[in-house]
Amino acid sequence: MSELCTSRAVTAPAATVLENREVARGTFLLRVAAPEIARRILPGQFVMVRGPGEGADDPLLGRPFALYEVNRDASGEPTSLDVVYLVIGRGTAALSRRRPGDRVDVWGPLGNGFGPSSGPGPAVFVAGGIGQTPFLALGREWLGRATYGDQPREVGPPVSSATLLYGVRSADFLAGVEDFERAGIGVEIATDDGSAGRPGFVTGLLEERLRSGERPAKLVACGPPPMLAAVARLAGAHGVPCDVSLENHMACGFGACFSCVTPILQDDGRPDLRRVCVEGPVFPADRVDWSRPSH
Ligand code: FES
Repeated sequence: MSELCTSRAVTAPAATVLENREVARGTFLLRVAAPEIARRILPGQFVMVRGPGEGADDPLLGRPFALYEVNRDASGEPTSLDVVYLVIGRGTAALSRRRPGDRVDVWGPLGNGFGPSSGPGPAVFVAGGIGQTPFLALGREWLGRATYGDQPREVGPPVSSATLLYGVRSADFLAGVEDFERAGIGVEIATDDGSAGRPGFVTGLLEERLRSGERPAKLVACGPPPMLAAVARLAGAHGVPCDVSLENHMACGFGACFSCVTPILQDDGRPDLRRVCVEGPVFPADRVDWSRPSH
């Protein structure tokens, strides 16, 4: 079925599932044929995905998933896009049962995406849980190895290196480490139970690096709010520019329902509620009001 264009976002009703495979414990890579969205989407933007026809009591709301990667044909034309998701409720459980050839509704690209690199120094990405997903495309773009989108835009000079600090509960939740390594992105791992990498929180890895005197050109983080708040504190204490990608609950994804609002500090220092789906999900870390629990 053809895709319908509305502004820059496109709706791909009944897009064909090409792959939907478990890549780590409860973690799936979904590949859908949505070439118009794949052609437009940028690192840090997301799509809403809804699997129709799961039953009368199935939530009809879509689920937001960050771009993981765009796939291209032999001539370089985008053909499909990948997202990686964790099964955490009925909607994602239903999605995990979709098979190649099944159909899902996809709409996007949504959100603002990441800004330019602050290269040419190193970039460090900090991910907790399923927060690694936006950093494959971003790392490839900032390293100068791939371009995304169909409009000219400022991406900044290539970074000298990109490293993913990746924290999960245990080794079996690690998803796609080899994808990052193949893309030239170094990976350092922390696990809560010590089953892989450094035992403890991923922020420990970051703290060690900053304490040793390393100064990334930019930090970017995605994961649970306490982790993001800790990264923001460390970045502020060490004077490193930092952006965060928020994972707020989203019902509509395009600014209509206000289910995703979070307090963002304005120029006068006062918080103002902003919709993460249209004004984010990427914000400067020092603009997020971490004292309020609505993200
Ligand atoms: Fe509806 Fe953001 S998800 S306004």
